[in-house]
Amino acid sequence: MSLIEVRKLGVQFQTNDGPVYAVNDVSFALKRGQTLGIVGESGSGKSQTVLAMMGLLALNGQATGEVLFDGKNLLTLPASELNRIRGNRMAMIFQDPMTSLNPYLTVERQMTEVLEFHKGMSRREARVRCVQLLDAVKIPEAAKRIDMYPHEFSGGMRQRVMIAMALLCEPQVLVADEPTTALDVTVQAQIISLLRDLQRDFGTAIVMITHDLGVVAGLCDEVIVLYGGRVMEQGKAEDIFYQPSHPYTVGLLGAIPRLDQDEQELVAIPGAPPNMSLLSAGCPFSERCALADARCRTERPLLLPSAHNPAVLRACHKSWETVSALAAQGAAHV
Ligand SMILES: Nc1ncnc2c1ncn2[C@@H]1O[C@H](COP(=O)(O)OP(=O)(O)OP(=O)(O)O)[C@@H](O)[C@H]1O
Ligand code: SF4
Ligand SMILES: [Mg+2]
Repeated sequence: MSLIEVRKLGVQFQTNDGPVYAVNDVSFALKRGQTLGIVGESGSGKSQTVLAMMGLLALNGQATGEVLFDGKNLLTLPASELNRIRGNRMAMIFQDPMTSLNPYLTVERQMTEVLEFHKGMSRREARVRCVQLLDAVKIPEAAKRIDMYPHEFSGGMRQRVMIAMALLCEPQVLVADEPTTALDVTVQAQIISLLRDLQRDFGTAIVMITHDLGVVAGLCDEVIVLYGGRVMEQGKAEDIFYQPSHPYTVGLLGAIPRLDQDEQELVAIPGAPPNMSLLSAGCPFSERCALADARCRTERPLLLPSAHNPAVLRACHKSWETVSALAAQGAAHV
């Protein structure tokens, strides 16, 4: 049974220049212990997808669809009920730890407060548990360091503190928005291996935004490839990266996916992302796609099971054979 199910999630922002359709029709389901990776260029709607799930959109944003957790739609829950779930059964790790750490409070005060609020522990009990978790995320001398302020920790250590905070209540779902981007490669690898251990120990389901193929290969079961706020391709990580069947994925992978190599980044594709204020009639990628024709510019392809592998969903008018041939030539963009 799915732990969390997202159905036709949409995010719209009202701006002075009109509505921005940041996320459209994103659906997925995650079981216990599974990891979903969300990949795509800057501005493709990755963060807004997960922020909408957590009820953390900016004030001018509105989410539509359903986010089902424990049979309840989080998008329509009263704030008090959502607060009980958030930080307790669902937690989020941000790219910048200072987004969720308060610079004016010691780590001890910030962490113990969470357990006092959500679990009704005494401060003394909470402190013991917090030190255990800081140990678990491999903060050296945790019992001493817990009394320090966030700025007294290095970037990598702050990220670990944030992960420890997110795990305080042993959440069933952990949402991580590029949790390792700001860190150096060695620390990145340590954090990923830490997340893998925690997933094994706690059975946590993880939604992970990343542009790092090593992370996708090492951690993710499923992948969603987003472009212009829409799903281009979705399925098992190994299916999508060994045999990309959408021109955008081919472009992102630089045409030659190598899942066996760590520290590989998704590549930049020439051209500009689409304007999300316009709900274009055609395929969002048509301006930059080497295979685009008149139909692509006027008719938006639906996300449908692929003929080569029905477990893969793809939104493209061209056959997967045509796209595979393009991948073999090593060029997916104009
Ligand atoms: N408050 C807002 N008002 C209007 N538009 C917004 C608002 N917040 C985000 N957007 C728009 O929503 C779109 C998706 O943004 P999102 O933050 O999800 O991108 P992303 O994929 O996470 O990119 P990055 O990799 O740079 O973090 C962007 O076009 C962005 O400009
Ligand atoms: S071939 Fe057409 S439908 Fe497919 S990605 Fe390119 S522009 Fe979109
Ligand atoms: Mg983002």
